[in-house]
Amino acid sequence: MDISSLCIVVIVTFLALLAFLSVIKKKVSGSGTYTSGRDIPGLKVSHAQHGNLDLITKHGGFNGFLLWLHQQYGPIAKFWFGEQMVVSIASPQLFKETSRMFDRPGLLFKMLEVIITEKAIQYANKEDGKWRRNTYDSCYSHNNVMKSIGMLQKLSEEMVGRWSQIPHGEHVPCRQGMFMFAIKAVMQSSLGNFFFQDEEVFKFWESYNTSWSDMEQRFLKEDFPQPGSEREKIFNEAKKYMYDTIAAAIEVRRKRPTTEKRKMLIDVMIENNIPYDVMQCDVLMFIIGGFHTTANSLLWALSFISAHSDVQEKMYQEVKNILGDTGKITPDNIGQLVYTRQVIDEALRIAKIAPYAARFDDDNDVKLGDYVIPAGTPIIQAINVEYNDPARWPNPNEFDPDRFSPEKVSERHPYSFQPFGFAGKRKCPGYRFAYAEVTTALANILLSFQIQGVKGQEVKASCGLLGALDDEVWITLEKRSSGSVQPMK
Ligand code: HEM
Repeated sequence: MDISSLCIVVIVTFLALLAFLSVIKKKVSGSGTYTSGRDIPGLKVSHAQHGNLDLITKHGGFNGFLLWLHQQYGPIAKFWFGEQMVVSIASPQLFKETSRMFDRPGLLFKMLEVIITEKAIQYANKEDGKWRRNTYDSCYSHNNVMKSIGMLQKLSEEMVGRWSQIPHGEHVPCRQGMFMFAIKAVMQSSLGNFFFQDEEVFKFWESYNTSWSDMEQRFLKEDFPQPGSEREKIFNEAKKYMYDTIAAAIEVRRKRPTTEKRKMLIDVMIENNIPYDVMQCDVLMFIIGGFHTTANSLLWALSFISAHSDVQEKMYQEVKNILGDTGKITPDNIGQLVYTRQVIDEALRIAKIAPYAARFDDDNDVKLGDYVIPAGTPIIQAINVEYNDPARWPNPNEFDPDRFSPEKVSERHPYSFQPFGFAGKRKCPGYRFAYAEVTTALANILLSFQIQGVKGQEVKASCGLLGALDDEVWITLEKRSSGSVQPMK
C-alpha cells in the first residue's frame, strides 16, 4: 500500500469511528443516564433516596433553595430531587428556549397531590392536558374577564364599605379582607353566584389554611401525620369541606343551567362531560390557584403602597382621573390604568408569588444553551432567581414601579418578567382575571382611602412554597372625600 492510500484508510477509519461514537453517545443520552455536551454544573447527591432535600429544607423550600443554587452555579444548575436529577434554569434566553414545552413534571409538584389529587389539571400532560387546557381557557379569555368586571367592582365596593365602618385611627388587619375578597372573586367567576354567605367563605378559607399548612409541614419538614391521629382527622375534615362545597356548587349548576352568555368554568366542564372526580379536582385547582396568588399579591401591593406615599399619590391621581365621576372600574377604563399596572407588576416581581414553573420532555433530549438535557429530566424555570438579578433589576430588593415604565420594559428581554409562566399553551390560565381583580380592588381602595403602614411593622416573605407574607399586614385608613383626605369619624 502506498503512502497516500494508507492516509485515506486512516482518515476513513477515523471518520467511521467518530460516527460510531456519536451514535453510541446519542443512544446513551436518550436513555436518561448520561448528559452529552458539557457537564451541567451543580450539586452532587447528598442522600441516596432523598437527593438534596436536606438543602431544599434548609433554605425553606424551593424559593430560597433556587436563589442559593444559582448563586453558587450560575444560570443553569443541576440538583437531585430524590433519585431524580433536576436541571434549573435562570436566564431570559434559557426561559425562551423552553417556552414551547407543554408537559409539566408531576414529581416536582407531588406535595400538592394530598390536596388536589393526581387527577388535577396540574398533572395532566400530552393530549389530555392540552385538550383540558384548551377547553377551560376560554372561560378566562379577554372577553369573559371583561364581563366579570361588574362583579369585581361590586365585591370591591363591599370590601371598601366594610373598611369605612372601622373607627378612625384603628389598626386594620388586611389579610382576612383580601382572602375573603379573592375567594369570592374566583368562586363567582368559575362557579357562578353560588357562594355568597360570608361564614361559608370564611370556613372555606380556614379549611384551605389547615390543609395547606399541613401539606407544607409534610414537604418542608418531612413531618407526616400518624395514621388515625387527630392531625390526620383534622386534615381530612378540612379537605372534605372544600370538596363538599365544590360538589354542592356542581349540583346547583347541573339542576339550574346558566342562561347567561358568559360561560363559566363549571358550565364548560358540564357541557364537555368532564368526569365528576376530575371536575372536582380541576375546580379546586382553579380556586386555590386563583385566590392564594391574588390575595397575596394584594397584600404585598398594599404593604408597598402604604410604605411609599409618593407611589400611592401618583396611583391615586391616575385612578381619580381615569375613573372620573363614576368612580367605577369598567371594561373601557381598566386598560388605561397604566401606572397602577406598573405598581402591580413591581409587587409581583418582588413578592415572587409563584417562584417557579417547570417542564419536561419525556420522549426527547432537550437542547438548552450548550447542554443536552436527557429525556425525562425535569427542568425548573426559576422565575424568582431572574427577578433578583441586578443585571436587569438594579437594587432588586427595592420597590420601584418605574422599572415597568414602557421605555424600561422595551429595553429588557421579554422573558425577563413572566410572573404567570412563559408564553405558550400552559401559561397561567387566570392571568387576565388576576390583573383585573387586583386592579379593581386597589383602585377602589385608593379612591376611598389614603393608607399608611403601622409604625414598626416589618413585612417579610414567609418560607413556604409560594411567595406569601410571614405576618399580618396592618394599615391605618384616612377617608378621602372629593379628592382630599378627610379623617374618619
Ligand atoms: C397574581 C396571581 C397569579 C399568579 C402569579 C399565577 C401564577 C401561575 C403560574 C406561574 C403558573 C404555572 C404556569 C406554568 O407552568 O407555566 C400558574 C398555573 C395555574 N394558575 Fe395561576 N397565577 C395567578 C392567578 C391565577 C388565577 C386568578 C387563576 C384562576 C382563575 C389561576 C389558575 C391557575 C391554574 C388552574 C394553573 C394550572 C394550569 C395548568 O396546569 O395548566 N391562577 N399560575
